[in-house]
Amino acid sequence: MDKLDLNQFSCRAEAFEEAENTPSNPTENLTFGDIVNRRFGRRDVLRGALAVGAISTLAGSMGLLSAKKALASQPTFNFTEIEHGVDETHHIAPGYDADILIRWGDPVVPGAPAFDPMNQTADAQEIQFGYNNDFLGYLGLPYGSDSSENGLLCVNHEYTSEEVMFPGIDRQDKDKDFADMTPELIAIEMAAHGGSVIEIKRENGKWAVVPDSKYNRRISPRSTAVALTGPAAGHDRMKTSADSEGRTVIGTLNNCAGGMTPWGTYLMAEENFNGYFMGDLEGHPEARNYDRYGLPGGWYAWGRFDKRFDINQEPNEGNRFGWVVEVDPLDPTSTPRKHTALGRFKHEGAETIVNGDGRIVVYMGDDERFDYLYKFVTEGTYDLNNREANFDLLESGTLYVAKFDEGGGMTWMPLIFGEGPLTAANGFESQADVLIETRLASDLLGATKMDRPEDVEPNPVTNRVYVMLTNNTKRKPGDENPPNPRAENAFGHIVEITPPDGDHAATTSAWEILVKCGDPSVAEIGAAWNPATSENGWFAAPDNSAVDARGRLWITTDQGSGWSKSGTADGVWALETDGELRGTGKMFFRVPLGAEMCGPRFTPDNTALFVAVQHPATDGVKNYPGFERNSTFEDPATRWPDFKDGMPPRPSVVVITKQGGGEIGV
Ligand code: FEO
Ligand code: CA
Ligand code: CA
Ligand code: CA
Repeated sequence: MDKLDLNQFSCRAEAFEEAENTPSNPTENLTFGDIVNRRFGRRDVLRGALAVGAISTLAGSMGLLSAKKALASQPTFNFTEIEHGVDETHHIAPGYDADILIRWGDPVVPGAPAFDPMNQTADAQEIQFGYNNDFLGYLGLPYGSDSSENGLLCVNHEYTSEEVMFPGIDRQDKDKDFADMTPELIAIEMAAHGGSVIEIKRENGKWAVVPDSKYNRRISPRSTAVALTGPAAGHDRMKTSADSEGRTVIGTLNNCAGGMTPWGTYLMAEENFNGYFMGDLEGHPEARNYDRYGLPGGWYAWGRFDKRFDINQEPNEGNRFGWVVEVDPLDPTSTPRKHTALGRFKHEGAETIVNGDGRIVVYMGDDERFDYLYKFVTEGTYDLNNREANFDLLESGTLYVAKFDEGGGMTWMPLIFGEGPLTAANGFESQADVLIETRLASDLLGATKMDRPEDVEPNPVTNRVYVMLTNNTKRKPGDENPPNPRAENAFGHIVEITPPDGDHAATTSAWEILVKCGDPSVAEIGAAWNPATSENGWFAAPDNSAVDARGRLWITTDQGSGWSKSGTADGVWALETDGELRGTGKMFFRVPLGAEMCGPRFTPDNTALFVAVQHPATDGVKNYPGFERNSTFEDPATRWPDFKDGMPPRPSVVVITKQGGGEIGV
């Protein structure tokens, strides 16, 4: 698809209007991908923003520096910063509202009962909002309208925290005997994992869930059938006693971040799937493979009551998790699909961009210390006019792993059976083997060992890509490498990747470090920020990120118990990427005690920001002055967001809007 027919895009007029306001007229350089990303990725690029994109589209020919120089040096984020701190509730910049949209246990599927913490059942949980909301995706309704008033919110439920979910559970020391866990409680836990699709609507300026919407749906590892696609589907290593074909898995696990595709489907990334399995690897046929993934992790008691999660009873079940799952939120009866072509690892996220030639590129991190950064490039191209024609795009293509050079260059190395070391001599008999053991294949290729790659966010306005590297305290002095330059990296950093001429399918790219996180006033930390960053503007442990409709970058953090070192709870920060303020952070929102901040997602018109408050009252609360113990259901460190006696803390989605309306941060 070399030639672009601008006439097929409704935003053509806007594109030209904005382009005429730029220093040069670069519209002839807009690719199919540029236009489509703006229309369907973060559509309705707002006045002024396209000028940035258009200049950056020229970066390849002009040189990136001159492109950056041409950008405004004025602050691009306009809000009053909040302060670092930790307390029992959330905080938002003045002039904004942060309202609870939906909480753990609230009804989702028509007929679901109201949440009753003392009478929880698996059947109720299976139709109520799940636990530990992480990824948030938004799709305007009706499809193609790009509405910012009515849409579907796609939500991942990553994991469960039973000590604050259920009365009488003592998991303070992560007791491996799980003595308190019963089959009933485990069924509730399973039902609380997975995903939710909910219809939401803005009326009189306030967002609310549409009860009983025909779209409202729950997905869980307890009962949802998921089809396998791609090279590993049907392979012997994917077969189990319940699935002799190796083509259908029950459910999806530990869905952390994810992505939305240009055709309006929702990608759920399976992250720490290893933790759900029990058993013994001694003499196990998958010992090499499972050991590389830390499987069985034994974090949950599920294997005691469900043989799927006992690797000695079901030796291949562990190969059926660790994938990216695609869901069509517009059809609540559709079967989700695990796309094995995208590799098996601890997938944090899966954000897509339409390349200039129409192919789809999916950026993905494998969130483990010393693991890798990936991208997948589809074989086929995006069909703008036929939504369903895109449904098999993620079934075939090439998976690449990143190798960084010292001089600011990098190579994307393809993971293809038969090429280089990916042969029978190293235990690979087919592409299915390469994908099932993606980590081992990447080890053999000599990929760059990273400091826990979390979200990887392509910016459709600038065509640059942002990699969240959350931290890695196990990196020893002497083991630093160019993109991971700090040993004992407790605070993380962000790498910026610039594909050549905006070509996301290219096998080389340029890169540089955008910020090194942590407190810049403490020299030993070795942080690097723009000096304009205030004492509240720096952050630690970048995890998720979002690019808004203006092409501006927003970061959310997950420090775990590290907030007691940084002095601030997790939250949302705006981060400048261009001009003289490049590398300046600014704090916008803060979570309650023990929570992490996930899922930032803007409506297409930038007037609402959805964020997910995950696991309130849990992480590091022993260090909270005045509390100094672990939380339980009976005695949590905070009862956010209800603050009612007897009501446990509840992971919730929060919607942030400007009082009186208008764009966020403008
Ligand atoms: Fe589930 Fe990598 O955070
Ligand atoms: Ca998380
Ligand atoms: Ca995460
Ligand atoms: Ca994290």
